[in-house]
Amino acid sequence: MRPILLLSCLFASALVSGSARAQDNVAIFMKAKLSHSQQVLKGLATEDFDLIAKSAQAMSLLCEDENWMVLQTPEYRERSTEFRRSVDTITEAAKKKNLEAAALGYVDATLKCVNCHKYVRKTRMARLEEFPQLKLGSAGN
Ligand code: HEC
Repeated sequence: MRPILLLSCLFASALVSGSARAQDNVAIFMKAKLSHSQQVLKGLATEDFDLIAKSAQAMSLLCEDENWMVLQTPEYRERSTEFRRSVDTITEAAKKKNLEAAALGYVDATLKCVNCHKYVRKTRMARLEEFPQLKLGSAGN
C-alpha cells in the first residue's frame, strides 16, 4: 500500500513541476547570471584577470541562451545586445590586463542590469493595466 501511495505522490508532483519547469529554468538561469557577475567583481577586487575574463565570457554566452529572451520586444533585444557589448568590453580589457577599463566596463554592465530590470518591470506593469484580469490574486476579490 505505502509504496503505491509514494509512487502516486511522486507522479503528481512530477505533473505539477512539469508546468513550473520553464519558469524554474529561467530562475536558475538568472541566478547563474548573478553569480558570474559576482565572480567578475571578485576578479576585479583581487586583480585576477583570468577570473574576470572567464566570468565575463560566461555572461556573454548566457545572452545567446533561449532563457535570456524573456520578453520578445525589439527594445528588450536591443538592451540585451547593449548589455552583451559592455560585458565583452570587460573581457577585452581583462585580456589586455587593463584593470581600470575592466572596472569601468563592470560599472557600465551593472547599470545595464538595473535599467533592463526597470524596463521589464515597467513593461509588465503596463500589460497588467491593459489586461487587469491577469493580476495575480485578484480573482477572489
Ligand atoms: C536585457 C535585459 C536584462 C539584463 C541586461 C539583465 N537582466 Fe537580469 N533579468 C532579466 C529578466 C527578464 C529577468 C526575469 C524577471 C522575471 O521573470 O521576473 C531577470 C531576472 C534576474 C534575476 C532574478 C530576480 C528574481 O526575481 O529572482 C537576477 C538575480 C538577475 N536578473 C540578475 C541580473 C544581473 C546581475 C544582471 C547584470 C549583470 C542582469 N540581471 C542583467 C533581464 C535582464
